Amino acid sequence: MASANARDAGQFTIGGDLVVNRLGFGAMRITGRGIWGEPPDVAEAKRTLALVPELGIDLIDTADSYGPFVSEDFIAEVLAPYKGLTIATKGGLTRHGPDIWMPVGRPEYLRQCVLMSLRRLGVERIDLWQLHRVDPKVPAEDQFGEIAAMQKEGLIRHAGLSEVSVSDITMAEGYFPVATVQNRYNLVDRKSEDVLDYCEKHRIGFIPWAPLAAGSLAKPGSALSTIAERLGTGPGQVALAWVLKRSPVMLPIPGTGHSAHLRENVEAAGLALSDEDFRALDAQGRAESQRAT
Ligand SMILES: NC(=O)c1ccc[n+]([C@@H]2O[C@H](COP(=O)([O-])OP(=O)(O)OC[C@H]3O[C@@H](n4cnc5c(N)ncnc54)[C@H](OP(=O)(O)O)[C@@H]3O)[C@@H](O)[C@H]2O)c1
Repeated sequence: MASANARDAGQFTIGGDLVVNRLGFGAMRITGRGIWGEPPDVAEAKRTLALVPELGIDLIDTADSYGPFVSEDFIAEVLAPYKGLTIATKGGLTRHGPDIWMPVGRPEYLRQCVLMSLRRLGVERIDLWQLHRVDPKVPAEDQFGEIAAMQKEGLIRHAGLSEVSVSDITMAEGYFPVATVQNRYNLVDRKSEDVLDYCEKHRIGFIPWAPLAAGSLAKPGSALSTIAERLGTGPGQVALAWVLKRSPVMLPIPGTGHSAHLRENVEAAGLALSDEDFRALDAQGRAESQRAT
């Protein structure tokens, strides 16, 4: 599959007017250990970014807190002025060191996040800005109200949420149209099935993070490995193909700092998983997800 292209995954229209190919790129892994500082191989991380549009990917997910601010800085350096690319970023998490993430949802901080992402990315408006976490210490209406205000002012084109419940989404919808929801979801982590169903019903883009994870299903001899062997590909590609087939609103953003891995992941876009394989993986994934909870 030398000519793998993200467009083979089909398209989704974010917020009713922003068309993207359904297989995107997660730019969290182009940073250092613990998503802190620069990656060990800066040149390879930048090569990976440069390859993203060549493989037909036109949706890149990042956040001010990745690095900080390494991911947004590299994206601007390598890809501006982003011809045909949608750069989706997030704000609302502060960083105090590797693997430490602290939400701050005060409106004045959220506004600073947006203004600084605009400056770092070198754009006048952010196509998709997502609240990285709802801060439980701040009234949700203050956070959602500020997002609505920034959208009205034209700083943000579309707005989304991350790690939320259906009731968070319906509350936010009282303030702004929720264009996307970004929750952890994969073959073996199905805690957000209700959120995914809500998104599908309301044509909200569902961006699953950690889409490659497959737990024990990736072991040699497992159903996933057997299907991958039969299709002449790897378990990661099959896990991604399963996620893509699960819903037409699904926009997976597998992340990597390595160009060879990026090429492999894009192969999933053209992988036709039969209904039978889909159902077999679905049942095993649900069972593993239930065991884990
Ligand atoms: N909203 C949130 O709270 C949240 C949280 C986490 C992530 N995210 C977003 O979601 C994106 C995806 O999540 P994720 O990065 O955690 O999970 P993922 O995409 O499922 O997996 C990434 C991991 O798999 C490795 N990998 C990727 N492709 C591979 C391949 N072909 N072969 C072998 N290993 C491979 C990567 O390492 P290598 O670099 O070595 O390839 C990395 O360790 C992130 O980039 C970020 O944009 C959002």
